[in-house]
Amino acid sequence: MNSVPSEAPEATELSVIVLAAGAGTRMKSRTPKILHEIGGLPMIGHALAAARGLKPQRLAAVVRHERDLVAAKISQLDPAALIVDQDEIPGTGRAVQVALEAMPDAVGTVVVSYGDVPLLTTELLRELVEHHRSEANAVTVLSAVLDDASGYGRILRSADGTVSGIREHKDASEAEREIREINSGIYAFDAAVLRKALDQVTTDNAQGEMYLTDVLSLAAQDGGRVAAVATDDRWQVEGANDRVQLAALGAELNRRLLETWMRAGVSVVDPASTWIDVQVVLAEDVTLLPGIQLHGNTTVERDAVVGPDCTLTDVQIGEAATVTRSHGSGAIISAGASVGPFSYLRPGTVLGEQGKIGAFYETKNVRIGARSKLSHLGYAGDAEIGEDTNIGCGNITANYDGEKKHRTVIGSGVRTGSNTVFVAPVEVGDGAYSGAGAVLRNSVPPGALALSIAAQRNAEEWVINHRPGSRSAELAQAALTALEASSNQSIDAPSGEGK
Ligand code: UD1
Ligand code: CA
Repeated sequence: MNSVPSEAPEATELSVIVLAAGAGTRMKSRTPKILHEIGGLPMIGHALAAARGLKPQRLAAVVRHERDLVAAKISQLDPAALIVDQDEIPGTGRAVQVALEAMPDAVGTVVVSYGDVPLLTTELLRELVEHHRSEANAVTVLSAVLDDASGYGRILRSADGTVSGIREHKDASEAEREIREINSGIYAFDAAVLRKALDQVTTDNAQGEMYLTDVLSLAAQDGGRVAAVATDDRWQVEGANDRVQLAALGAELNRRLLETWMRAGVSVVDPASTWIDVQVVLAEDVTLLPGIQLHGNTTVERDAVVGPDCTLTDVQIGEAATVTRSHGSGAIISAGASVGPFSYLRPGTVLGEQGKIGAFYETKNVRIGARSKLSHLGYAGDAEIGEDTNIGCGNITANYDGEKKHRTVIGSGVRTGSNTVFVAPVEVGDGAYSGAGAVLRNSVPPGALALSIAAQRNAEEWVINHRPGSRSAELAQAALTALEASSNQSIDAPSGEGK
């Protein structure tokens, strides 16, 4: 802690500027580069989250390319972020300058980071700030030593090892291009030093831009301490310029997320085929089988088993539930329930404890009570089903009359026959049954057996008479002849033989 009381508040002041004005043409996309997603968040979302983690007094994002689209997304992701517009003067130096003009009261430390560097963590930013403050530096830059440094600004060091400046690749001499320590573009600055130096930065360079990197040599010339903190985690300083890099960063992010969850007690059988978003929450002793994608605010409770082959978005999975080869979104699967294989759970599906949604079932906007089962082949939409009810094979809620959706209300302890159709709006009382193939257009009282189809009538020998010469007729004739023979035999010998 600082021993001079009057300096203490300023020393802990922190502002962050996230640069997001660039175009990102190599993405070849109608979507602005920083809105491309990995781990369920646009790149700018990762950058804002890392910056916000520092709990700064002020957080500004500088925008220009696709301004309205980008600004709207930033405000949605971080409503407290200050949106600053860069003008037509190009360069990272100008971007930071306009942000400082929008934050005239920013004192103490100013951190600068990029909107397109998605794996950077709050922890590494914090290390940078702590290092910067402990040495009372004017500027501290986050650097990395790369095998191939081409394209990056290079860290220039004096004979004594202190940092004297940064040279952009395009402005560098042959000898300077041999330097493998690169500028990540992430820095901690003393606010006053930064303001003063930016006033002196020009566009007199190979790209005709205001380089933020010029601040380092200006600060050093002014007698300030300029230092570089090298990270050995190159992923944290890597930006995505094209879709190849985006995919590589996405895979590395996923690998890191899964590693964290595995260390927290989650079994991931095949990390290579398991993809999870940053917001997903998993409990201890969850098992993730191969081939799954868990998106959005999906949560999985203890002892649940998910997979193989599931895609689940915003799905809550209860303790010890199982979800096998299924697709779901906006659904709640309670403790001990089972889903799949091959179920399709659409938004509003709530499956009670120990309940079941089985093979080839589609559900939407349906509440299913505890221990109720919809085991095979059907559709349940806009419905309410009580507890301990068994919905037979192939049951359908006919919820749509061509214009409006209607509700089906099914009680507890109900047993429905195969191929029952609920023509909504319709109610089935507690403990009622329906026969196979019933088409329920009217409510069924509690305990009733609903039969809606005409009694079966057999037109004897119809096939033999109407399809003479067919294979069916031939087989039917043979079977009838055999039946006749056996009935004659049983008349001859009524007991004994068969036992
Ligand atoms: C910059 C650094 C370089 C460093 C590299 C790391 C400068 C002059 N050079 O180079 O030393 O090695 O980053 O990736 O700073 N941006 C704006 N406004 C602008 C220009 C850029 O907001 O006018 C933003 C971009 O959206 C991007 C970031 O700043 O997020 C970096 O811009 P970019 O053009 O990629 O800088 P580089 O030339 O790669
Ligand atoms: Ca870049």
